[in-house]
Amino acid sequence: MNVNSANCLLPVPSGSFVVPDLTTVLSTTEERPLRFSLIIPTYKEAKNLAQLVEQVSRLLDSQLAGNYELIVVDDNSPDDTWKVAQELTNYPQLKVMRRIEERGLSTAVIRGWQVARGEVLGVIDADLQHPPELLLQLWSQIQGGADLAVASRHVEGGGVNDWSIIRRFLSRGAQTIGLILLPGVIGRVSDPMSGYFMVRRNCLVDRPLNPLGYKILIEVLGRGKIPEIGEVGYVFQERQVGESKVTWKQYVEYLQHLLRLRLSLGSIGRFIRFSIVGFSGVFVDIAIFYLLRNKLGLGLTLSAALSAEVAMFNNFLWNDVWTFGDISQHQPGLRQWFERFLKFNGICLAGLILNVLLVNLLFNVFGINEYVSKLIAIAAVTVWNFWINLKLSWRVTDVRQ
Ligand code: GDD
Ligand code: MN
Repeated sequence: MNVNSANCLLPVPSGSFVVPDLTTVLSTTEERPLRFSLIIPTYKEAKNLAQLVEQVSRLLDSQLAGNYELIVVDDNSPDDTWKVAQELTNYPQLKVMRRIEERGLSTAVIRGWQVARGEVLGVIDADLQHPPELLLQLWSQIQGGADLAVASRHVEGGGVNDWSIIRRFLSRGAQTIGLILLPGVIGRVSDPMSGYFMVRRNCLVDRPLNPLGYKILIEVLGRGKIPEIGEVGYVFQERQVGESKVTWKQYVEYLQHLLRLRLSLGSIGRFIRFSIVGFSGVFVDIAIFYLLRNKLGLGLTLSAALSAEVAMFNNFLWNDVWTFGDISQHQPGLRQWFERFLKFNGICLAGLILNVLLVNLLFNVFGINEYVSKLIAIAAVTVWNFWINLKLSWRVTDVRQ
């Protein structure tokens, strides 16, 4: 099947949201690599699409003729936007993907990037609220060395046309919450809510994305490897045809997205996960201790030691798949798994001894209340267990960064 003819629908990728490197994409098709792939996510944009494709093609033909593609990713719009796209046969660079099962702006963009053949990946809304002419300025930012070029409403020359006070307040409010939760991510650009940008493919290759809702740029900033960022000011235009699909749901998804990123990024996020797993271990420890003591009638020390070991095994399993999952997935096989388990066990056992020593020191030497001493010991040992395990048990070996 020659997918170069505009009428063909592109196959919809499935599974995790990982952008593959170009060689992988090109190995599945006889097509050649391109310099730029622009994704146009659509839901009920049948009346806008032709005008957008015409304007964008005219602009990109002026600098990238024959070296770019437009990929419309439509979520089976009730107004048959995907069919309208297929009928735009004058544009050989136009491709169409029709998603049936999946829905959502961010995931639509990534599905498009997964089949794209461009070295640079972009996204633009289909409703002409993002002025197409800005594409050339964004492109020159990339040519100038930027790894990510963002169209911003909050730099010189930027703004919004017809937003109500409420929407302005909500947008700025959302940005502020983002700055509090993810300063190192949200603070890197002036308009983290922008849905109009382009990024070098290599910044995203093989980095699992996990988007939610509308804010694809935040996902790119959070999980991509992006040294240089360029911004271009633009005025967010009034929508002429159709209406925005933004509802309160998108605001809830935004908060969920921030929390999800917060939990998964950097050491703080990893430490939070490690602590949650540690907490679950307390319940396992108590439950097994109860069963061994009361159901099997085992001795105190044996029950305590066995239940602690079962809890440690529980903690190891969860930490290996969740807390350090992004590392352990690069250390496959039973041998490495067992090595990690033994190290984890050894470190936590040392932690246990440290715990007992600390309680005695705080209670007997500093005269601190025994329960306060116990809590301080638990907190200190949790940090010890986390750090030493991060450095030893889930030591980053050959992960391609
Ligand atoms: N495939 C797909 N699936 N596309 C969608 C979906 C969906 O579920 N929901 C919306 N889209 C498409 C729309 O058809 C449009 O092309 C684009 O995504 C943006 O949707 P709008 O509903 O028009 O969003 P907006 O104008 O309110 O907000 C836009 O601009 C903001 C400012 O840059 C979005 O890009 C926001 O993310 C952005 O913050
Ligand atoms: Mn819009």
